[in-house]
Amino acid sequence: MHAWLCENPVGVEALQWKELPTPEPKAGEVRVAIRAASLNFPDLLIVQNKYQMKPPLPFVPGSEYAGTVEAVGEGVSHVKVGDAVAAFAGTGGFATHAVVSAALVMPLPEGFAFDDAAAFVLTYGTTHHALVDRAALKAGETLLVLGAAGGVGTAAIQIGKVLGARVIAAASSDEKCALCRDIGADETINYATANIRDELKRLTGGKGPDVVYDPVGGDLAEPVFRSIGWRGRYLVVGFAQGGIPALPWNLALLKGASIVGVFWGDFARREPKAHAAALTELAKWYAEGKIKPVIDQRLPMRELPAAYARMGSRQVRGKLVMING
Ligand SMILES: NC(=O)c1ccc[n+]([C@@H]2O[C@H](COP(=O)([O-])OP(=O)(O)OC[C@H]3O[C@@H](n4cnc5c(N)ncnc54)[C@H](OP(=O)(O)O)[C@@H]3O)[C@@H](O)[C@H]2O)c1
Repeated sequence: MHAWLCENPVGVEALQWKELPTPEPKAGEVRVAIRAASLNFPDLLIVQNKYQMKPPLPFVPGSEYAGTVEAVGEGVSHVKVGDAVAAFAGTGGFATHAVVSAALVMPLPEGFAFDDAAAFVLTYGTTHHALVDRAALKAGETLLVLGAAGGVGTAAIQIGKVLGARVIAAASSDEKCALCRDIGADETINYATANIRDELKRLTGGKGPDVVYDPVGGDLAEPVFRSIGWRGRYLVVGFAQGGIPALPWNLALLKGASIVGVFWGDFARREPKAHAAALTELAKWYAEGKIKPVIDQRLPMRELPAAYARMGSRQVRGKLVMING
């Protein structure tokens, strides 16, 4: 097998494409021949030692992938050799093969493409948890999505529309805004050129959005929180801009508004039944054609550094997917 090995987490440039012995699965594990693996923001942080999870060295990055089961260890019963599966394992995906705990592997429903499956669980799982579970977004409410052309942002536009919300997508360029409209956003705001507070006032008739989905953080958060509607819910999803916002608490009081944390990884671990139910609903929406990952580019696995560079320079529109074969 071949894999992108991280022996020294000082950045993407230290990753090396290496030939390694193909591992055999132990009891409770499976070996997956990887067909596709997607790039998520934490994959960028983890190779720089900036992510909350710090795997023992050396490790293979790549949190999310899909492929075919090639071997199963003792005691594995829910998948068998030849099954198409998706895995969310935190690491291991930027390779030709991975051995992973069977508990982290789920069989793919008929008709689920490998590239879509590799770009699905984290972005849509996070967003379902955020909008349905944490914000209780209702039909007819207004949802503002920041960083809306990115991985979780594009999922938020699509799920917002499935739930019947009016979606305002905000991003940093006209090209990104155009993509957001193509996938269903009702309105867009280019926050690199427009004043986001003025635009929100105009687009909501002064009321402000009911729910804000924020994977960006930094200096956008305070002005947007000042614009939120009465009983608004501000979803803290991530800090792609780097800065962690600090808000004056009186703003929450004045709007009867809530700051709502979203931590999908812990939700999946702590509440496995609710997580499984969310994935079942998402798979149904996918089969019905209501949601579909927006794939920016499909690149050969060997070109991982180019994919990382695209994500690091804020160019990705939707998801980058690395392909084997
Ligand atoms: N809470 C959870 O459970 C959870 C789960 C998944 C992901 N996340 C977090 O959500 C965030 C987004 O993840 P993603 O996979 O959707 O990433 P992504 O595809 O790269 O999207 C991030 C967006 O953030 C914006 N951005 C602003 N400043 C940036 C900067 N300096 N560098 C890069 N992007 C910047 C970009 O949009 P514009 O150019 O339009 O501003 C970009 O499209 C990350 O912080 C990730 O860790 C959290």
